Amino acid sequence: MAKAKKAYVCIECGAHSVKWAGQCPDCSAWNTLEATTFSTPVASSRPEISTHRLDELPDDVEQRYATAFGEFDRVLGGGLVPGAVVLLGGDPGVGKSTLLQQVSAGLMKDLPVCYATGEESLRQIGQRSLRLGLDAAAMNLLADTSIENVLEQASRCKAKVLVIDSIQTMTSEHLPSAPGSVAQLRESVGRIVQFAKQQDVSVFVIGHVTKEGAIAGPRVVEHMVDTVLYFESDPASRYTLIRSVKNRFGASGEMGVFAMTQNGFREVSNPSAIFLSRDSVNEPGSVVSVAWEGSRSLLVEIQALVADGNSNYPKRLAHGVDQNRLALLLAVLQRHGDLAVADEDVFVNVVGGLRIAETAVDLPTLLAIASSFRDRACPERLVCFGEIGLAGEIRPVRFGTERIAAAAKQGFTQAIVPVGNVPKRAPEGLNVIGVRRLSEALDAAW
Ligand code: TYD
Ligand code: MG
Repeated sequence: MAKAKKAYVCIECGAHSVKWAGQCPDCSAWNTLEATTFSTPVASSRPEISTHRLDELPDDVEQRYATAFGEFDRVLGGGLVPGAVVLLGGDPGVGKSTLLQQVSAGLMKDLPVCYATGEESLRQIGQRSLRLGLDAAAMNLLADTSIENVLEQASRCKAKVLVIDSIQTMTSEHLPSAPGSVAQLRESVGRIVQFAKQQDVSVFVIGHVTKEGAIAGPRVVEHMVDTVLYFESDPASRYTLIRSVKNRFGASGEMGVFAMTQNGFREVSNPSAIFLSRDSVNEPGSVVSVAWEGSRSLLVEIQALVADGNSNYPKRLAHGVDQNRLALLLAVLQRHGDLAVADEDVFVNVVGGLRIAETAVDLPTLLAIASSFRDRACPERLVCFGEIGLAGEIRPVRFGTERIAAAAKQGFTQAIVPVGNVPKRAPEGLNVIGVRRLSEALDAAW
């Protein structure tokens, strides 16, 4: 029989401590220690597990299941791996249950699926299924919050795919702590991982996120699973993005694009087309760039507006690019681009509600600002990318050749890129101009 032990656990990093403290001794976060009880399992006889030779493993180690959406397979790293545990996080109402119900219905054509919900009633699941027009009559549904029972039922119906909606509602009967507490989360995820690996069942686990946007509960939950996906949805955008932040079976940082419709999600397989608003390119302040997301390029439009500032503290607002990076870039523009923007209000926006974290959009951001400041549009059919250094130099970025090829494919005729990214042979129809310094880039654009 297990013995219950009292302790405190940090909800940020999962560190244990015997005494309460205002600050976590491990990760130094404030007010994150939470009282909890642990059961320390008494040593019992362990089943004997022997070693295996790598070349004697079954032939199907490469096997993956295709889901209903190519875009979802992409974020999973090329399909769902048998026995993988996938954590899917997102704000309430972003469509987690909807997507997984659609994905389950797609997988069900070949595999037995069990959908366990601790949040909704079976009637609600049925209603959503009707609304989505899913052909999922044979789906095994379960409304329960006991993780032991959910796993037992999944095992009983021989499910190969299990969906748990949501991990915060699940509790283990072996722990006295409240649902959603750190101890319960760790225990439940631990049981799920063990179940998935032993029985070769792929499990999707839905997780709620906190105000800060992380999956509620300690980071250790993210460490325990194979893949962590996040929904990103800007209320202003028509599109929902799913990004992989961790993936043991593929590249992380992969992104899938979806649109929510009357009948659930529809995938967007050529996202470049939607993030470019054709009409506004060629207005002053608008520049097209090629961003790199996961394993593919994405054409994006960056817009800037420079307005006369009326206060001593000019406004700097960035939407879709990093605000601090914008301040840094403006200082470089003032010093090395000879543009007096220090007292102006500057607003920057990436069209479509996209967030871009890479430095390749430095140069297009400054070109957009310069274009708005001078009230002169950039030449038609121009793309540009490149990182900007503090000395005003333009640095090459990764996947330069691929970005240039993507621009040519979308019909662009001119590209301003770092010298280090100029390909030996430019694609047909595209004039590639290599630049070393910001001043050269500004000259090349006009
Ligand atoms: P839901 O999957 O319940 O979100 P979550 O599980 O992440 O909390 O979806 C919630 C939203 O999706 C809800 O506001 C309504 C909308 N929706 C549609 O627009 N179309 C649809 O076909 C469905 C089923 C939902
Ligand atoms: Mg839900």
